[in-house]
Amino acid sequence: MPTKTTAKKTVKKSDKKVVKQATKATKAASKEAGARARTTASKRPARRDVIAVLKADHHEVEQLFRAFEEAGDHAYVEKRDLANRMIAALSAHAAVEEQILYPWVRATIRDADDQTLEALEEHHVVKWLLSEIEDMDPEHERFNAKVTVLTESVRHHVREEETEMFVDLRAVGTRAELLDLGEQIIAARRTAPTRPHPRSSDTPPMNLIGGTVNAALDHAREVGREVVGALGSIGPSAE
Ligand SMILES: [Fe+2]
Repeated sequence: MPTKTTAKKTVKKSDKKVVKQATKATKAASKEAGARARTTASKRPARRDVIAVLKADHHEVEQLFRAFEEAGDHAYVEKRDLANRMIAALSAHAAVEEQILYPWVRATIRDADDQTLEALEEHHVVKWLLSEIEDMDPEHERFNAKVTVLTESVRHHVREEETEMFVDLRAVGTRAELLDLGEQIIAARRTAPTRPHPRSSDTPPMNLIGGTVNAALDHAREVGREVVGALGSIGPSAE
């Protein structure tokens, strides 16, 4: 039979062992949780601020312009495809800037009214050009000229945005605000029109309402085109 002192020592020893095991288990669990959190964070795309998001759009459109300029004189199919991609990219880009960026700039940056009003007019001209290019045969003698003027107009607009408006944005907006605007732009693009609507309102609140309706109409038109295309590839039934 152990003496009182021996029993006390035995209990103390076993207590220590339990505490040691518990600490080890807790450390292992927290290590695992840390690794899980790091994996989740690395899978999550890094947040981009509004300037990074819009500059990426500008870069994408510039690539389309260059491809068009390099396409051969008779590369009508390629030019039609490039023009269609310009229409979709520029229509969505203009819509989200008008819904999110320009209202924020006007409300936040002092003396930015003229800058944003000019940007809206440049968008307006671009939308008219896009709507004409959309319905024009790429073999039409005016087709290349229209895309050239579109390219010049957009390059001018992009240069002004990147060297003036974005500089002001960087100076005035906090990092959190610019990141938040970037997220709003990405979210708005999911429901943005993919065709130009030069007659629709380009300022809030009407552009927010009209934009949703136009996007739904654009989507329906795309689906219609795909169905017609699919039927065309099947060909007429032999009756
Ligand atoms: Fe713009």
